[in-house]
Amino acid sequence: MRKIGVLTGGADCPGLNSVIRAVVRKGMQEGCLVTGIKNGWNGLVEEDTRILDLRVTSGILDRGGTILGTSRLTPPMDEALMDKAVENFRRSGMDALVAIGGEHTLRIALDFFEQKGVPLVGVPKSIDNALSGTDYAFGFDTAVNIATECIDRLHTTAESHHRIIVIEVMGRHTGWIAMEAGIAGGAHITLIPEVPIDMDRVYKILRSRHDRGKNFSIIVVSEGARVPGYSTKVMEAREEDELEETVGIGKLLAGLIRKETGYESRVSVLGHIQRGGTPTAYDRIIATRFGVKAVELILEGRFGEMVNLHNNRIQSVKINEAVKERKTVEQKFYETFHDFSE
Ligand code: F6P
Repeated sequence: MRKIGVLTGGADCPGLNSVIRAVVRKGMQEGCLVTGIKNGWNGLVEEDTRILDLRVTSGILDRGGTILGTSRLTPPMDEALMDKAVENFRRSGMDALVAIGGEHTLRIALDFFEQKGVPLVGVPKSIDNALSGTDYAFGFDTAVNIATECIDRLHTTAESHHRIIVIEVMGRHTGWIAMEAGIAGGAHITLIPEVPIDMDRVYKILRSRHDRGKNFSIIVVSEGARVPGYSTKVMEAREEDELEETVGIGKLLAGLIRKETGYESRVSVLGHIQRGGTPTAYDRIIATRFGVKAVELILEGRFGEMVNLHNNRIQSVKINEAVKERKTVEQKFYETFHDFSE
């Protein structure tokens, strides 16, 4: 019997529980014992684990968050902690590890694999969908659907009050959520980190809409988007600066627009709502398929690999390839929808 450990690291994301459930079911089918490691890599350092079986993982397919808990760590991980984690891993009798996470978690996984020889496989999750090693990371579809529903709701109130509403969405360094929710929600202007914001262009679009009798507008902005000359903070960095009232890009935009055009403007920061709650059917399916594939990779001894979706097929890629670069929105894709939407 093989003993498989599973952990969820970094930001939580809808679909994590679907992967955990799939790893347990497929693992048990193959005669493996599955141990859950609590709160990401911390659980390995602190030997905080629990046995996962059908009973513990029953009813979690559609549950948001992660039953294992998670924690954020920025790589590289402290050497002494890594050694402690490896020692605990070996002592626990685990034969392999499934690390479910985004960029940071997978980078740490790569260090454990390459530097410490820990046999592991990765599973990509990210509402930001920024990992270049996979066409898709689960969680993204749910986030886009939530953001789209919010845009629809804000659309009606913007129209009634003849206002500009700036909707700030997550995505950190990439504009995928903004782009897709912007298209689906019919945003009039979408702004992303990959393309510096041209405020004159924004004012021009708003004025031309007003001249056409459209005296309201919806602007979707990704939290990492920048107005040259101004500094703003993305969601993940805001907490420590709370008392300094660091503004996010949404608030900055609404202020600049009000000042320049005189149009009544409001901002709505969607924040963690995009990460909470039940995963969409698509995310449950991809997450389940990823979980099954992760166990298959372990049984085949293909350590150091990450499951991925490529050309609509579940496959795998070396983790070091997967984390090499970030998947960003192409300028051409952006421009097509920018001009099309106003
Ligand atoms: O990477 C996922 C993400 O939700 C980003 O979109 C966002 O910037 C960040 O995490 C927020 O992190 P935290 O939960 O630490 O505030």
